[in-house]
Amino acid sequence: ARVVVLASGGGSTLAALLDAHLDPAFGARVVAVVSDVPDAGALERARDAGVACAVVEPKDFGSRAEWDAALAETVAVFHADWVVSAGFMRILGAAFLDRFGGRTLNTHPALLPAFPGAHGVRDALAYGVRVTGCTLHVVDAGTDTGPVVAQVAVPVEDGDDESTLHERIKVAERDLLVEWVGRVARGGLTVDGRHVVVGGGGP
Ligand code: GRF
Repeated sequence: ARVVVLASGGGSTLAALLDAHLDPAFGARVVAVVSDVPDAGALERARDAGVACAVVEPKDFGSRAEWDAALAETVAVFHADWVVSAGFMRILGAAFLDRFGGRTLNTHPALLPAFPGAHGVRDALAYGVRVTGCTLHVVDAGTDTGPVVAQVAVPVEDGDDESTLHERIKVAERDLLVEWVGRVARGGLTVDGRHVVVGGGGP
């Protein structure tokens, strides 16, 4: 299956997929990395791995809707079967979801529905939870609100700050993403309301 990854940051999450896809048994190939940030570290990792890159910057478009449509066009150029948002800091809009809804997964560094949004790690730490984690979910029109594919719990340790906690979450997140993107790529995914079935067929 052909996977396009959306990333805005350093790309350590992407890197796990770029390692996994070298094994033909994984069932998915990252065919492109698309970013909204022209100098994102994720793009450098893609180039180093010989994977196509593209940048779709909001400032180049007259509106969020035009940017969203351009993003969808760009992803479509690579004939994506699945789209994985791995540290992509933009909301995917109607034009994108019309074309890739149900086939777009997002990984979030908290146990949704707790702590959605751009500061999930910081918010969990501030709340004082003893356990947080990460969530892989199907993207819907909301922010981190789509049906859950998989989750894993990660303990908060005494003395944690946002960075140490986020790094611990990222270790679990990379494994979760590789495990489930592989399963989805090999066996598909179907969504019934809030419930996701992986391996039941699909594109
Ligand atoms: C990941 O934890 C992702 O869930 C969050 O930002 C982090 C991305 O890190 N949205 P990286 O860019 O993959 O290193």
